[in-house]
Amino acid sequence: MSGVTPRFGGRVAVVTGAGAGLGALYVAALAREGAAVGAVDRDAAGAERTAAATRAAGRECRAVTADLARADEVARMAEAALGWQGRIDVLVNNAGGGSSETASATTLAEEDAASWDALVDANVKTAFLCTRAVAEAMKRARYGRIVNVSSRAARVNVADQSAECKLIAPDDFLEGTAG
Ligand SMILES: NC(=O)c1ccc[n+]([C@@H]2O[C@H](COP(=O)([O-])OP(=O)(O)OC[C@H]3O[C@@H](n4cnc5c(N)ncnc54)[C@H](O)[C@@H]3O)[C@@H](O)[C@H]2O)c1
Repeated sequence: MSGVTPRFGGRVAVVTGAGAGLGALYVAALAREGAAVGAVDRDAAGAERTAAATRAAGRECRAVTADLARADEVARMAEAALGWQGRIDVLVNNAGGGSSETASATTLAEEDAASWDALVDANVKTAFLCTRAVAEAMKRARYGRIVNVSSRAARVNVADQSAECKLIAPDDFLEGTAG
């Protein structure tokens, strides 16, 4: 990358759900582009794995363990990230997932309130709490970028992910289940 200015040089990013899957890839991509990245996950080993791999590639990364559906742990996470670099420029709300992890239901008829709560906690509450926790610091710095990761279920109905479709795209869901 010699001669090319990294797009996130000097920036600090926080990626949620960074201990596995897409989150780990977002961490690698942001770090490659020059950002110092906080890799946050409730899975401590996963977050450490991502941070270690990023540092092994010569980039700056710190693991933070937090259950992001809990306000107290989100506050602690934001404090740790701000204490680390003094700013948060980019937040990627990636933590979450579909019914396969957070619930066992496959159809609307099988969906129950507990699995619905788990889905909302994982996908929506985490994004709300993390956004709220970093927004003031971004306002003070007069700079901030927040990316919310969604799903193709927001655009099309997926037969075995009824709750996820309703959560993200109520109109599509209702059309799909009525037919
Ligand atoms: N993989 C796909 O094909 C796909 C497709 C559409 C949307 N998405 C979305 O992309 C995001 C990541 O998906 P993935 O497939 O990489 O998921 P994944 O299950 O591989 O990783 C999700 C990570 O989030 C963490 N996590 C979940 N709840 C958390 C919480 N409360 N606090 C802290 N960490 C938490 C998990 O520990 C895990 O490490 C999700 O929001 C998902 O809805 C993924």
